[in-house]
Amino acid sequence: MGGSRSVKSDAEAVARDAAEAIARAILAAPDAGPFHLALAGGTTPRRVYELLAARDLPWPRVQIWFGDERCVPPEDKESNYAMARAALLERAKLPPANVHRMRGELADRDAAAREYEAALPARLDLLLLGIGPDGHTASLFPGASALREQRRRVVAVVGPKPPPNRLTITPPVIAAAARVVVLATGAEKATAVRCAFDGATDPSECPARLLRDAEWHLDRAAAG
Ligand code: 6PG
Repeated sequence: MGGSRSVKSDAEAVARDAAEAIARAILAAPDAGPFHLALAGGTTPRRVYELLAARDLPWPRVQIWFGDERCVPPEDKESNYAMARAALLERAKLPPANVHRMRGELADRDAAAREYEAALPARLDLLLLGIGPDGHTASLFPGASALREQRRRVVAVVGPKPPPNRLTITPPVIAAAARVVVLATGAEKATAVRCAFDGATDPSECPARLLRDAEWHLDRAAAG
């Protein structure tokens, strides 16, 4: 199934469009059973989370996961969990038991990755991801051995984007997700967006290639 692209005029319009898509997915899910939603890190999703927090959604049914985390304390300003907590988790009154953060602060990062992998559902209902200017997604950076990982679903990595030490989902988790939604805004993402859809590009050069069949939410600047 080929991917889709929704292009909006600016970042605010993209955030509204993406928040609406995620809200509809949660509302459309069968009443029984949890909705497993994995959040993206970085800065782009913050506005999406603020808009979602204002929606009247069945939050007790939503289980929150993360696509990656920096190896910093959960209250650190660089923590993806800290950003999501401020923008969404505290505002939406999500039951704390529904929030599954990666414990990036543990000294044994491989143990933290294995702990998360053991808890992560086999299939996420919706995986939200961003991309970097170099084409990375989650904490899967160009040239990383984690891009070739087919057995482990969460691994500890060292990447070029500070903070360097991170935990990240691997390609099998992306492939298994029922829906993958990608956010990209700003001209600095235009090259990465192009390489995601360029058939000649290998995912090891441009991890965003793994997202070619995803649902992209772009502003005109990122759509090039
Ligand atoms: C991270 C993110 C990373 C992010 C992109 C885009 O932990 O840094 O998971 O993959 O989504 O780097 O970041 P911005 O949204 O800040 O541009």
